Amino acid sequence: MRTIKIGLLGLGTVGGGVVKLLQEHAAKIEQTTNVHFILKRVAVAHLNKPRKFSLPEETILTDQIDEVLNDPEIQIIVETMGTINRARQAIVQAIYNHKSVITANKDLLAIDGPKLAQLAKSRHVDFLYEASVAGGIPILRVLSSSLVTDQITRVSGIINGTANYILSAMVSDNLSYDKALMNAQQKGYAEANPVNDVKGIDAANKLSILSQFAFGKALDPTNLNVRGIDQLTSAQLASAKQFGYTIKLLAIAKRLSNRLYTSVGPTLVDNNDQLAQVNGVQNAIAIESNALGSSVYTGPGAGAKPTANSILSDLAAAANDILNYDCGNAFNNYHSELTPSTLNN
Ligand code: NDP
Ligand code: HSE
Repeated sequence: MRTIKIGLLGLGTVGGGVVKLLQEHAAKIEQTTNVHFILKRVAVAHLNKPRKFSLPEETILTDQIDEVLNDPEIQIIVETMGTINRARQAIVQAIYNHKSVITANKDLLAIDGPKLAQLAKSRHVDFLYEASVAGGIPILRVLSSSLVTDQITRVSGIINGTANYILSAMVSDNLSYDKALMNAQQKGYAEANPVNDVKGIDAANKLSILSQFAFGKALDPTNLNVRGIDQLTSAQLASAKQFGYTIKLLAIAKRLSNRLYTSVGPTLVDNNDQLAQVNGVQNAIAIESNALGSSVYTGPGAGAKPTANSILSDLAAAANDILNYDCGNAFNNYHSELTPSTLNN
């Protein structure tokens, strides 16, 4: 059995979830990957902050990210600290230090995902980010494998768990917007700054990443038409219900001829539509494509466990590539193989 040492940046909701899953499922992970993972170093911002769980005995906790990034024994960096500039700097440094990188950072990926993927490819390491879109739903793997034979014409769905949780709680539990948002924050669904969740920016960032995989085109999220749910009232939600509709924050990207049309915003969804039944923190992504027709993927879209689960699936993929690379094979994961842009706009 091979040993692979990991460095973790961030020990909050997602980072904490990664540590817990690694501990709880250690035996099964070893069995399925044939790798013994050692969490060698973890970087945090506040070294003395009380944590709800303990780290493995061999793990070193630090507030110096460089100690993690420059440790020659560490082969995989898992970035779960968020922020844009510091995370970008850390990821670039990790890649230059010949480490594979796994991240959940959609804010950064929406801006620089393709560039970082290219950099990783040129340095023969993996750059994986399944957890960045729709939490526990392995949607990027689905899209990248279907692209081999199929042409996707439309991607739409509920891709922000916090917003969907708030809208569902306002309708089903009669909660106020403020109370519902507070609950979502307590459950670890919301971003450190929840403005991105409620103003549709997080959904726009994720649509940009989805679009890279579905259409081979990275969208600039700042150029998208984006509206949030923060101005919706309970009365508007109730009135929609009365007429047989549910209001959902939908993100849509649609190919027409050789152009891509996008929107992110609150949308009336007919109650007979599958998306109207998606409640709480659940996400759902509907794909329309020439070969497959319609397919819908649903599952938990945020929170410690589902997100960490996606990170662990990337971890297994990155470890597999490291083992293969040592046998003289190329790194083979899909994220470094973004399709060329085929659309004009
Ligand atoms: P949290 O705020 O819970 O955790 C952030 C962690 O990063 C904390 O442990 C913090 O340290 C640490 N940190 C922040 N800045 C630095 C720094 N400069 N150096 C070292 N450590 C730092 O965030 P989440 O876990 O919720 O989110 C993390 C990332 O995952 C974000 O990119 C988010 O968008 C993404 N994500 C989140 C999901 C969720 O459901 N929450 C789902 C999918 C993606 P300390 O604890 O000491 O303050
Ligand atoms: N804040 C995000 C959400 C986390 O609520 O969907 C998952 O990306």
